[in-house]
Amino acid sequence: SSPLNVAIIGMGTVGSGVAKILLDRAEQMTTRAGRPIQLKKAVVRDLSRPRNVDLPAEVLTDSIDAVLHDESIDVVIQLIGGIDPAYDIMLRALESGKDVVTANKALLCEKGESLFRRARELGRCICFEAAVAGGVPLIETVTQAMTANQITSIEAILNGTSNYILTEMFSHNVSYDDAVKSAQEIGYAEADPAMDVDGTDAAQKLGILVQLALGIKVGLNQFLRQGIDCLSLADLQYAAELGYTVKLLAVAKLLDGQLEMHAQPTLIRNDNPLAHVEDAYNKIALEGDAVGKVWLSGMGAGQMATASAVVANVVDIAVGRAALTFPRLDLWNPREGIK
Ligand code: HSE
Repeated sequence: SSPLNVAIIGMGTVGSGVAKILLDRAEQMTTRAGRPIQLKKAVVRDLSRPRNVDLPAEVLTDSIDAVLHDESIDVVIQLIGGIDPAYDIMLRALESGKDVVTANKALLCEKGESLFRRARELGRCICFEAAVAGGVPLIETVTQAMTANQITSIEAILNGTSNYILTEMFSHNVSYDDAVKSAQEIGYAEADPAMDVDGTDAAQKLGILVQLALGIKVGLNQFLRQGIDCLSLADLQYAAELGYTVKLLAVAKLLDGQLEMHAQPTLIRNDNPLAHVEDAYNKIALEGDAVGKVWLSGMGAGQMATASAVVANVVDIAVGRAALTFPRLDLWNPREGIK
């Protein structure tokens, strides 16, 4: 059957990983999607820069307009971070009749409401599994697998970079600055690693989860947010002496109809599975009022793990699953009775 034509906008760490999967596993993806997934365009900022993925010359372009005006392109994989110009690109992609897959949590956290409204009006999808917890199928779990539940509690390690830095400092005796540097080199950190270490990234992800799980939008400035940039090795060592591990924990709990929410470094007792998460892994404990506790864990950052979630969403679109689930998430309608 007819191919699904895709374009990637933003060929950084994740974009290159997505291209690699689409090119190297083309046959497998065709089988899974029931039709070929064709990488038609990849938009880069600088055409002369060497790339670590081999793309056919006709695929590379530095023109976003070339993608948005190309009627044969069905899906835009939007991997530019931040709000500006990502917001504009995403709106234009939707208005050009394209479905969008994105990993941009800052954008969804801040502008999700209007983007999703527009997508619905246009009958298009915004798929964002990669925006929260990288390769871990968390969005799918919250929105689909746990749909029979009221989710009452989310406790999660959601920033891979912070967890990696804490692990490096405590277990491998690496200095804070060196650990930040290597998180950037490996490709865990955001373009601006300040967002990782000051708690913003984890808070944005928690904001998205709370919107999905509880139907309410909580602005970034409405809850406590603190990062690991305020910690020293001595803090980690004292905690260990007392039988605790320090983790950057994002928490949202419904207690008697009241929402409690924060993202901050937290002492976790060593008998809690969250204390033993290493490297850039994420781990999430969800509680639903029917199913009870559900745990998820896996790589929350990094090239191939995040690309894995992006490609899964492309296949969701190819087989028609995204059109069934994403516009019906009923994401941003406030629910009654939660304060
Ligand atoms: N910088 C993010 C992290 C990438 O470290 O978790 C995944 O969103």
